[in-house]
Amino acid sequence: MIIAIDGPSGAGKSTLGKMLAKKFDLLYLDTGAMYRAVGLAVLNAGISFEDTEKVAEIARNSKIKLVGEPENLQIFLNDEDITTEIRTNEVGQAASIVSTISEVRRILVGHQRTLGETSKNGAVLDGRDIGSVVFPNADVKFFLTAKPEARARRRYEEDLEKGRAVSYEQTFAEIKERDERDVSRKDSPLMIAEDAVVIDTSELDLSEVFAQMLQILQEKSSNAASNLT
Ligand code: DC
Repeated sequence: MIIAIDGPSGAGKSTLGKMLAKKFDLLYLDTGAMYRAVGLAVLNAGISFEDTEKVAEIARNSKIKLVGEPENLQIFLNDEDITTEIRTNEVGQAASIVSTISEVRRILVGHQRTLGETSKNGAVLDGRDIGSVVFPNADVKFFLTAKPEARARRRYEEDLEKGRAVSYEQTFAEIKERDERDVSRKDSPLMIAEDAVVIDTSELDLSEVFAQMLQILQEKSSNAASNLT
């Protein structure tokens, strides 16, 4: 089973994706973490983001690994643990920039398909283009969204909890900037796949969204079962 979860940053994709993966014993793939790993590799290499050939070469030569259970997922770049380092706003912006380069997308989409297709029970993937490009035949597609203010508030509170020095205004501005780039890029922009179920999480808490997702999964699986009979 493949479950696709797309949507803008701060809509709750990764928390809910991890919850679903745990419940159904599926592989959880945080595809944003892969773009963040490439963004960090480019920052570390000190090259210009405009040099798209060099950026693509870095993506090609980067060994990115997602290791462990969904709730303690660790991200490795060339065997170095970068789990914490990739969560800064700077790396988020770098990820958003490298994700506009088609060759980078081609490389990462290839990894994502291989990982999803070879996992024993299936996978939950969260990202921007999962239902539209990576797995257009996913069994279930969710599109989680929320008002920018609600997403910025959540991200800001998460950052405060983790001891990162940011202001709400700065977080809001960065979310808007990233949204703008993610929806307007030419290759695989953030969009709602035709057959995706859209959930606006602005006014809902996690358990309410999770309950809605479980209900949809149940409806889809009983429809699939009745189509077989
Ligand atoms: O989900 P995230 O905030 O960690 O993602 C970081 C950036 O990576 C995001 O701004 C856009 C890009 N991204 C993408 O283009 N496609 C994906 N499937 C996942 C992330």
